Amino acid sequence: MRFQVPTRIYFGSGMVSRIKEIVEENFTRPTLFLVTDKGIIDSGIADKVLGQFPGTQVFDEVEQNPKHTTVNRAGEIARKLKPDVIIGLGGGSAMDAAKSIALLATNPGAIEDFEGKGKYKTPPLPVVAVPTTCGTASEVTWVSVVTHTERLFKMSIKGPAMFPAVALVDPDLLITLPPPLIASTGMDALTHAIEAYTVKAATFMTDIFARESLNLIIHSLERAYRNIKEDREARTMIMKGSMIAGMAFGNSDVGAVHCIAEAVGSLYDTPHGVANSVFLPYVMEFNLPAVKRRYAEIALLAGIEEADEETAAQKLIRLIKELARILNIPAFQDLGIEKDKFPEIAEKSFQNNSNPSNPREAGVSDYLGILEKAYSE
Ligand SMILES: [Fe+2]
Repeated sequence: MRFQVPTRIYFGSGMVSRIKEIVEENFTRPTLFLVTDKGIIDSGIADKVLGQFPGTQVFDEVEQNPKHTTVNRAGEIARKLKPDVIIGLGGGSAMDAAKSIALLATNPGAIEDFEGKGKYKTPPLPVVAVPTTCGTASEVTWVSVVTHTERLFKMSIKGPAMFPAVALVDPDLLITLPPPLIASTGMDALTHAIEAYTVKAATFMTDIFARESLNLIIHSLERAYRNIKEDREARTMIMKGSMIAGMAFGNSDVGAVHCIAEAVGSLYDTPHGVANSVFLPYVMEFNLPAVKRRYAEIALLAGIEEADEETAAQKLIRLIKELARILNIPAFQDLGIEKDKFPEIAEKSFQNNSNPSNPREAGVSDYLGILEKAYSE
């Protein structure tokens, strides 16, 4: 058993107002490069950081599902600027891009040369990750996901030196997050927790983080969606739940839900959390025979008390479908995915590195079955 989260974590309401003090506590007079997206600039969140570091160079062109070409362009800028520290401010896309740009800053080549585990020769620059969504937990994981737009493939670039040095996690940054993004990123976090708790690689350590994250997310996501501005307790719970779900799946793995979501995301640019949310209950139905007891345990955390594990698990799956409906997550039929693409999606899902971790063995025909079931309901 191996468990690692080397990131130094600062968590709390209003923590972003202390970013200067935190950066100076960890680095000696560093020059910074801020990686973010246009939405974060427009929301005014970037000003909370830039106000404390006037004159900092900014790259704000990170898109949803960051492209290899964008990361390579920002990498070139980082090589010229030679900063000491990269700040990744935003959702998973901005933080993942920041981690890959930090790698390119210290290593020659393009980001596609580093696909896989530990392909870098020199450790990347230190990253300060500041999440503004409640989903990916990229602030505490060693992976950066970048889409290769020619191969239509989501590359994983990872390694022990790619954990952010510092995670600055401020639940108040969720206040300006639009409800549809609270819904989709929150469902991504819920998927992380459920998959981390049920994959083959789960350990007693990842179970601790997965169980507590489930407890936090299940009891706060709907509240956060309905009233993020006023409900300080809910936004704190969902931010904690998202972060520690990352510690869980980062040290175990994700399973078939993420395999399908990444396949769909690479072909259609579907938001990652929406794709996860759409397929989560159907993958759970498929996995049920292999992990009935685990699902019953999660059901109990959600307040479902049933002596029979099968009944408890079925009720949990219904509760998750109902939650997605309450959160107004789009239906599969509304994602614009053509049925004739199902074989390609199934094949890509099967090829995903996390497929072997799924608790029940899933072949191409199983993925096809899950896609068709999800589409028919
Ligand atoms: Fe995810």
